[in-house]
Amino acid sequence: MKALKHKDLISILDLTVEEIQEILSLAATLKQRLAKNMHFTPLAGKTLAMIFEKPSLRTRVTFETGMTQLGGHAIFLGPSEISLGVRESVADAARNLERWVNGIMARTFSHQTVVDLAREASIPVINGLTDRLHPCQVLSDCLTVQEKLGLLSGVKVAFLGDGNNVAHSWINAAARLGMNLSIACPPGYEPLSEIVREGQTAADSTILVTNEVAEALDGADVVYTDVWTSMGQENEAEKRRTAFAPYQLNKAALALARPNALVMHCLPAHRNEEITDDVIDGPQSIVYDQAENRLHVQKAILTLLMGEQ
Ligand code: CP
Ligand code: NVA
Repeated sequence: MKALKHKDLISILDLTVEEIQEILSLAATLKQRLAKNMHFTPLAGKTLAMIFEKPSLRTRVTFETGMTQLGGHAIFLGPSEISLGVRESVADAARNLERWVNGIMARTFSHQTVVDLAREASIPVINGLTDRLHPCQVLSDCLTVQEKLGLLSGVKVAFLGDGNNVAHSWINAAARLGMNLSIACPPGYEPLSEIVREGQTAADSTILVTNEVAEALDGADVVYTDVWTSMGQENEAEKRRTAFAPYQLNKAALALARPNALVMHCLPAHRNEEITDDVIDGPQSIVYDQAENRLHVQKAILTLLMGEQ
């Protein structure tokens, strides 16, 4: 799809419905090809710079492995390597990188850093998580739900916990793809009102924010949670454990959703905080399928943004 070539992926709202469908469909194809050991190397000779201001298992390994499988190469730039905005400005880093590599994936604290990188660099910039959004995660989750339920539009997703980056990207995805989304958060931890309003305006479906767990879970086909203390918020951990305790995804909570509702978590999980062992390891959990799909969806994104199609 030409429309995606050289584009940035900062938010799911940067994508049209057709572009999201193209990503999910190519991801499914690439997943099948990989299972059959069929090589597909559209990024031969291309390099992705991966900037990480925060730790990562899934994002780092799936982007790096994805680039290798696509015939290209990825370079890991951790916090001590480039110190964006400290050792040199974001703009200067962007203007150097664009002379050498073909794309940038960045995980940053401030969302503005990724926005600035995208503005300054002439090559595609992909958001690998900021304090505001985690689009690659939720696009991968959408493929996983589609695989399990056969559709996305009309599916009810309940999100329990922090109205943070992952919840924000779910709001964007629901607005684009027609999922009904109910987010249950403790008072004071709701998603940003501007993101909720923007989602509700764009959506044909229902996007609801509540403090009531039972209201969010009622009729849910999918129950999703995320850590209570995100990267960078470690000094709030104690306060958050108290505030979020009623929002734990445990067996009693899961029983309030539809029978056989899917259990999802972006991982890493803080087991027995936001999700109990019996639920994350239980028969309804699809958390490792989600993690696997990061590879396939991001390979599709890399191909469409950086390939020569
Ligand atoms: N879900 C996710 O982004 O995992 P990492 O933080 O390990 O990359
Ligand atoms: N909300 C979590 C997601 C981790 C993938 C965080 O930002 O740490």
